[in-house]
Amino acid sequence: MNFRQVRELTKGIQDDVALLVLPELFATGYAFQSIKETKMMAEDISGETIHFLQDLCRSIGCVICAGFAEIDRDRDQIYNSAVLVDEHEALGVYRKLHLFNKETLYFSPGNLPLAVHTIGGMKVGMMICFDWIYPEVARTLALLDADIIAHPANLVLPYCQDAMITRCLENHVFAITANRVGRETRGMDNFIFTGQSQVTSFDGTVLARAPAGAPVVKIVEINQKDARNKKINEFNDLIAGRRPSMYRTR
Ligand code: ACM
Repeated sequence: MNFRQVRELTKGIQDDVALLVLPELFATGYAFQSIKETKMMAEDISGETIHFLQDLCRSIGCVICAGFAEIDRDRDQIYNSAVLVDEHEALGVYRKLHLFNKETLYFSPGNLPLAVHTIGGMKVGMMICFDWIYPEVARTLALLDADIIAHPANLVLPYCQDAMITRCLENHVFAITANRVGRETRGMDNFIFTGQSQVTSFDGTVLARAPAGAPVVKIVEINQKDARNKKINEFNDLIAGRRPSMYRTR
């Protein structure tokens, strides 16, 4: 995935789109081979990738969440990040908290707390790929009142798409998992990405699932306010019914 491909894929969008989600590290590739190389590809939020995304926001008339390699030049750290941008500015940055596999060699673990951004009528939280395996991430975003979890991914394991049904159901939130397709072979690495990007509803319904092997854009209409009612019946509210005082582990 790169700028040209994203332009091609999105140029036919006719509908009124509010939020577009692109994969993790959408412009750089995933299989970094050294810190030096990762640093060369990394940008801050005034970099070329953010400018490209802002321009795309302007063309489509939407807000975009996309993954990028972020450098904090002051601290000389590189993060596997996601940014939420509109045509004017970066509205928020999320730095991946739970690095997967060799990402741990090339990126620093995220150092920013989870956050939810209010954009128009939407409350959007971000997480990245392997964060799905820690239910605390989606739960925290739900506790921060997220309606929608924007979830850029480069998934190589086959479990996430199904797990997101549970993440959404247990929190009554929508999720947009934008996953990569294809293969990346570099050095000793041979990654096959699982595709099947997915939009999951607050009630666990899969609203859209992309094919495993082809890049596509899917447009799904939702009412994000449906995520704000946490009741699943007259007696059970998923958030109010929690018993945090009983969740001590030692
Ligand atoms: C992953 O977190 N990119 C698998």
